[in-house]
Amino acid sequence: MAKVLLTGGAGYIGSHTAVEFLEAGIDVVVVDNFSNSSPKAIKRVEQITGKSVALYEADVCDKDATRKIFDEHRLDAVVHFAGYKAVGESVKKPVEYYRNNLDSALVVCELMREYDVRGIVFSSSATVYGVSENVPFKEDAPTGGCTNPYGWTKYMIEQILRDYANATPGVSATLLRYFNPVGAHPSGEIGEDPYGEPNNLAPYVCQVAVGRLPLLRVFGNDYPTPDGTGVRDFIHVVDLAKGHVAAFQHMKEGVRTYNLGTGHGYSVFDMINAFKRVNNVEIPYKIVDRRPGDVATSYADPSLANSELEWKATLGLDDMCRDAYNWQRKNPNGYRD
Ligand code: NAD
Ligand code: WQD
Repeated sequence: MAKVLLTGGAGYIGSHTAVEFLEAGIDVVVVDNFSNSSPKAIKRVEQITGKSVALYEADVCDKDATRKIFDEHRLDAVVHFAGYKAVGESVKKPVEYYRNNLDSALVVCELMREYDVRGIVFSSSATVYGVSENVPFKEDAPTGGCTNPYGWTKYMIEQILRDYANATPGVSATLLRYFNPVGAHPSGEIGEDPYGEPNNLAPYVCQVAVGRLPLLRVFGNDYPTPDGTGVRDFIHVVDLAKGHVAAFQHMKEGVRTYNLGTGHGYSVFDMINAFKRVNNVEIPYKIVDRRPGDVATSYADPSLANSELEWKATLGLDDMCRDAYNWQRKNPNGYRD
């Protein structure tokens, strides 16, 4: 049976991806240091799928600790999720972000070389397109011009993986540029569980909906968009997770880059209105100033992934809002109950 290592597999996207791999009949090993997650997420993955996951608590920057996993398992590929991801925090703690994100990626490359593991799928981000608004983004659009250290780590790791794969015959590197993942597994057993006040729109809306936060601040209603609020390509996390299985199943020697998005732009008000309608809840909000660094509009051209990976997002905004709320209501304090 094929086997993949998910670094950061206890996190939001990693845990959903673990479910999809297991349901596709692919074995999963997870390494996580739980710096932004809980081992409970993996227990829930096992409950949902009825399958077991080999779970290691380790820092992927620690090569010896991570080597143990490569020693104990014959891996077909690594899906590298591990990393810090908070944009604002990265501005305040750039050294920590560069250290954690770059070192973990380098350790993965070194161990892949040492153990002749030939495939890597990497969690990149639409943030590599920088502040451009030449939408929809295609994969060959210019990258760089990132507005924060987090974004630069993604840009740099993409380059590291391109260089590594190009220099290493037989290796396949797939760079997946996620747009805005939201929602949760329809079981409501796993979902997004940010520590502290959420930075992103969907978890903020969820926490307002369950009364954990009083009010959503809408960052600007004077953008050049149909209703004045920011427009994003929100993608259901289950669709996104399936994109990783498709990437694994289509691995070929060399480097490939794919946008994972729906190809549709939804505004902040679209999200609020869908959430209210689908879940029959109130979302009190107030308009405040724009958030520095935000662009008006960002959405993907996902046609390359649609054709080459035979993958397409199938879930819509209503599904995202319903499933996100179901998770939040069942787990008002996330995994900390
Ligand atoms: P997350 O924080 O929920 O998951 C990351 C996981 O990595 C966490 O479980 C964390 O504990 C773990 N981790 C961090 N550093 C580690 C280390 N050195 N060793 C071992 N484990 C470590 O985040 P997520 O939303 O699931 O994101 C997963 C990946 O996708 C990240 O690389 C992120 O940058 C990228 N990404 C996320 C988004 C998004 O909006 N959520 C968008 C684009 C890209
Ligand atoms: C979406 C829209 C906000 C919160 C970020 C990262 C990006 C990627 C995904 C990792 C914007 C508005 C938000 C709030 C609001 N992550 N908003 N009130 O900024 O598109 O992308 O997450 O790679 O790199 O930058 O996502 O969810 O923060 O914002 O009005 O409390 O919601 O202004 O228009 P963003 P987001």
